[in-house]
Amino acid sequence: MLSFSQDAGLSSYGTPDRQLAYRFGNIFWGSNHEESGVDSHSNRCLFRRIASRAGSILGQAEYTSDNKLLPPKNFREWIFLSSGLGMSYSPQGADHQMFTNVFVPHWAYSEFLKNGKWPDQTMFVVEERSSQTKGSINKAGHFQTDLMGYGVEVKDETHFPEKWAYFNFDETTKSAQANPKAACFQCHEDHAAVEHSFTQFYPTLKPIAKKFGTYKQERENVD
Ligand code: HEC
Repeated sequence: MLSFSQDAGLSSYGTPDRQLAYRFGNIFWGSNHEESGVDSHSNRCLFRRIASRAGSILGQAEYTSDNKLLPPKNFREWIFLSSGLGMSYSPQGADHQMFTNVFVPHWAYSEFLKNGKWPDQTMFVVEERSSQTKGSINKAGHFQTDLMGYGVEVKDETHFPEKWAYFNFDETTKSAQANPKAACFQCHEDHAAVEHSFTQFYPTLKPIAKKFGTYKQERENVD
């Protein structure tokens, strides 16, 4: 395809993102493609790049051709839902307490505010970080340190017949296959308060789901 520098008027203007946005405008809101020498192959190719870039900016799942999930980009710029410290689902707990930080993209959060439901294509990230007590001036309590990895949950009816799928990443993972149902899906299915999300542990989402009647109160019961 043509490089950006061959486009009239764009030789040195803007970041690649701004150039993409500019050409996106031209393609969909009517400039003359023949004149600028942009053929339909290059449009298709460009469209794919825009869709992919928009996906990563907006926080939508992107897959390889064999349905593996690509690592979500910039998820720390999404909405932060809450942190857990040393949460464990077995009675003995873990030796070393880790933090979990949960994020959801802005667009999905906005939809949730309107009706207490997660729209199709919602993605969640839970990142796991090590904790430490002694360091610098700190003597008690815990602060967060190294990334141990992160889990991703996707609601996607097109890609997964059971809608919800789960993946593991670390900093070097290029793409991840969905985990078997028993590893992740089942616990979320059986214990989460709103669809598959553990909203009982996200204090800012809880009142919203309750208001819209999508909150399963019994999921707060202690086993
Ligand atoms: C035994 C139950 C259980 C299993 C198994 C489980 N989770 Fe979770 N998951 C939770 C709980 C509880 C939370 C909320 C608390 C937290 O850790 O912050 C959570 C939160 C999450 C979140 C944040 C969004 C949400 O749904 O609330 C993601 C993403 C996630 N888990 C991914 C995974 C992945 C990936 C796996 C499999 C490797 C997995 N989970 C297995 C219990 C489980």
